[in-house]
Amino acid sequence: MKDRFFDLSGHAALVTGAAQGIGAGIAVRLARAGASVAVADLNADGASAQASAMRDDGLEAMAVQVDVADPASAERAVSEVLVRHGQLHVLVCCAGIAGKALPTWRQADEDWHTVMRVNLDGVFHCCRAALPGMVERNYGRIVNIASLAGKEGNPNMVAYSASKAGVIAASKSMAKETAEYDICVNAISPTVIRTPILDQLTEAQVNYMTSKIPRGRTGTVEEVAAVAHFLASPDCSFVTGQCYDVSGGRATY
Ligand SMILES: NC(=O)c1ccc[n+]([C@@H]2O[C@H](COP(=O)([O-])OP(=O)(O)OC[C@H]3O[C@@H](n4cnc5c(N)ncnc54)[C@H](O)[C@@H]3O)[C@@H](O)[C@H]2O)c1
Repeated sequence: MKDRFFDLSGHAALVTGAAQGIGAGIAVRLARAGASVAVADLNADGASAQASAMRDDGLEAMAVQVDVADPASAERAVSEVLVRHGQLHVLVCCAGIAGKALPTWRQADEDWHTVMRVNLDGVFHCCRAALPGMVERNYGRIVNIASLAGKEGNPNMVAYSASKAGVIAASKSMAKETAEYDICVNAISPTVIRTPILDQLTEAQVNYMTSKIPRGRTGTVEEVAAVAHFLASPDCSFVTGQCYDVSGGRATY
């Protein structure tokens, strides 16, 4: 008998930053595995278009507008899924911004705080909203998208690098807090993946990051989605508090 691994039939998933890029790829991958996916994004039109394209492909998806930087908005997004499905099995925090590519001494307060609010506060807001229901039902899988920048620090990306280091540490804290439940909280650190976020950087910045990848190429959205799929599945039951690199060999620790 053939088995279907990492099956997500009957599972409700919320993916932030899912209107495009890595988030959209993860949303599609989870839906193909059977999940009903809330495609959540600041960009309401983009989220609607992505959810609609997924439904056209026979997948289960609904659009949700969310600003992860706003705690009330994050709470509303989680509530929408709970009202619709009665349970949130999977939360993938993928919404993120790169910020301005400048040396630290030319970074403005406002730009630092904007990146922190979206990338780090956003993960905190969404996880805080999702965890009570997961604890109550003794089930949950959380996947937070960090970055290799959070482990190594990218020059000219001080806020981004610090925010992503925070995402890795926050994921480990939450994993320890929930370890006695069937809840797993893990992070993924991708290296350069060709998505629109790279438009926020200079070509020199992208080339610098790509030159550090031993595999000699950028990664794909599908390669990140494959790892997220395992971490979002019931098969991931004894793996928590980890950071998985999708980096073509760049980080080996
Ligand atoms: N692309 C890469 O090379 C790369 C590498 C490492 C980590 N990452 C991380 O992966 C995640 C996705 O990146 P991507 O490359 O797909 O980026 P992207 O710019 O293509 O997509 C990001 C999405 O997040 C949404 N978003 C931005 N601010 C938001 C907010 N306040 N609330 C809700 N949604 C918001 C955007 O509208 C967009 O749809 C980010 O967290 C990013 O830091 C990307």
